[in-house]
Amino acid sequence: MGNALEEHYGYLSDAVRREKFERAVARAVKPGDTVADVGCGFGIFGLMALDAGASHVWGVDRSDAIEIARETMRRNGLAGRFTCLRETSFEAELPEKVDVVICDHVGYFGFDYGIIRLLDDARRRLSALTDRELEVARGVGKGQANAEIAAELYMSIATVKAHVGRALSKIGADNRVQLAILVHDAELG
Ligand SMILES: C[S@@+](CC[C@H](N)C(=O)[O-])C[C@H]1O[C@@H](n2cnc3c(N)ncnc32)[C@H](O)[C@@H]1O
Repeated sequence: MGNALEEHYGYLSDAVRREKFERAVARAVKPGDTVADVGCGFGIFGLMALDAGASHVWGVDRSDAIEIARETMRRNGLAGRFTCLRETSFEAELPEKVDVVICDHVGYFGFDYGIIRLLDDARRRLSALTDRELEVARGVGKGQANAEIAAELYMSIATVKAHVGRALSKIGADNRVQLAILVHDAELG
């Protein structure tokens, strides 16, 4: 536990890092979202997600650090909203697909912990389009502009943009055309 404690204490005490992630998590997580905090360590990003209104967080970490997360959630009465899974993300099975996957494996060089393979696997297996994202993606598939989708679905253009961005990232598409084709193929398949 010694090394894990020291390493994660370092992350926690870096105020600049913490504040930047706090802003990013608040932007990514909407009230009611379910979240996977992949490589959760002490669970700090998951806590930020709960603060942002997440309905449930699954924290996944293969190291001792997750025992601190487990105890933190228990002591703060959050165990019902933050489930700790001590395993690698490649083996973790969640009871449901989540809205958002959050993860920091930037480390010192930008590619620590094999982040690219890890996020690719997590995105494909742990997250899926929500009903709202799917509705927006269908609009994109029909060739509608964000303003048309917004009017049809009674949401703001900013919300449509957020759903499109999330849908693109979840299915690994680079642009709206790819998204449209994928939705079209999936609906026909
Ligand atoms: C850079 S630390 C970040 C911890 C935490 N998110 C934070 O900001 O304090 C990365 C954590 O990811 C865990 N980890 C790395 N690869 C993993 C994997 N494939 N599955 C589960 N945990 C992983 C490590 O054990 C470590 O605790």
